[in-house]
Amino acid sequence: MKYIPTEVIIVDADQPEPAVIKRAAKLLRDGEIVVFPTETVYGLGADAFQPTALERIFVAKGRPFSDPLIVHIADEHELELLTTTIPTEAKRLAQEFWPGPLTLILPKGPRVPHLVTAGLETIAIRMPRHPVALALISALGSPIAAPSANRFMHISPTTAHHVFTDLSGRVPLILDAGPCEIGVESTVLDLCSNEPRILRPGGISLEALRTILPDVQPPKQRNTVVEYEETLAKKAPGQLLTHYAPTVPLLLFDGTIEEMRTSMLAETGRRSTQGEHVGVLVAEEDIPTFQDSDALIYSPGREDDLVQVAANLFAGLRTFEEAHVQVILCRNFGEQGLGLAIRDRLLKAAGGKICR
Ligand code: TXA
Ligand code: MG
Repeated sequence: MKYIPTEVIIVDADQPEPAVIKRAAKLLRDGEIVVFPTETVYGLGADAFQPTALERIFVAKGRPFSDPLIVHIADEHELELLTTTIPTEAKRLAQEFWPGPLTLILPKGPRVPHLVTAGLETIAIRMPRHPVALALISALGSPIAAPSANRFMHISPTTAHHVFTDLSGRVPLILDAGPCEIGVESTVLDLCSNEPRILRPGGISLEALRTILPDVQPPKQRNTVVEYEETLAKKAPGQLLTHYAPTVPLLLFDGTIEEMRTSMLAETGRRSTQGEHVGVLVAEEDIPTFQDSDALIYSPGREDDLVQVAANLFAGLRTFEEAHVQVILCRNFGEQGLGLAIRDRLLKAAGGKICR
């Protein structure tokens, strides 16, 4: 694609400078794309009602047009522009979790451009809670369609630096408000099927959703690569097992903490002996086990602090890439709360395979 000079502007995360927001909103109004922070990950936004602007998102990311976008709103009134009906469950969930990291799949309204939904009859909508995102949507006066601001198949960006690595020369403006608070993407919840089901676990846990809708179903089981890709590819076309791949192979370990430590340490030793540069991603409590190994160690946090683990997870994977390790050995953090989202991203990075 044609080279586009990329400007990075630092913006206050809590009280975004009006002049900066105005400038970014003008670019969007003129049909340009802009990178902005959300509480989950950075997004690459375009006016949801301008097809030529939407097209730019796909070109900049190298993303296939078959992968639908999430539309971001700042006010529930904007739902009327985007959907035909707002089910009671959606209203209750929105009241509890918006603004926040929950994306609802709803019936698509007639005015929504084809590019937003990849031709589906449904649309993904969320109200982010980051002040910069909210200010930008309000200043534009139109919903913003935005995928994560990474190159297609790469890890979502949680800092402006990550975005710059992936998209410099491809986008005109990056708004830099520092690291994202949550660090994994929003939970995508399907409200258009017989039963409400999580399509992508994320920043709002299954347990939290069930306090409002007790019958919310977990993501479909994905015991094998084939089964997972077949079931989810139809429903959420972006949900392939290799979607969040770091550029370095990742091995995900399972089992008890002792088992994981033992097999990861053995694997580290085997590979180091062969001259491989190994990265290990572990909990803080695991660090002593690996201290005398040759591996590069990254810990996103304590095993009982999944909020912190999620917040640092993608930065950790990118740290390994930048250090040019040849393989990442990664422990599992369970499936409670944010653990489900963490496991989902790691499993995708591991190509769906688990080591025991
Ligand atoms: O936290 C987030 O959700 C971030 C920030 C920027 O808001 N956005 C994000 O967008 O992660 P993206 O494009 O990377 O992921 C959107 C996911 C994809 O897995 C896509 O398949 C799914 O949402 N999706 C979008 N529209 C859908 C629809 N109509 N039905 C089912 N899944 C849909
Ligand atoms: Mg993405």
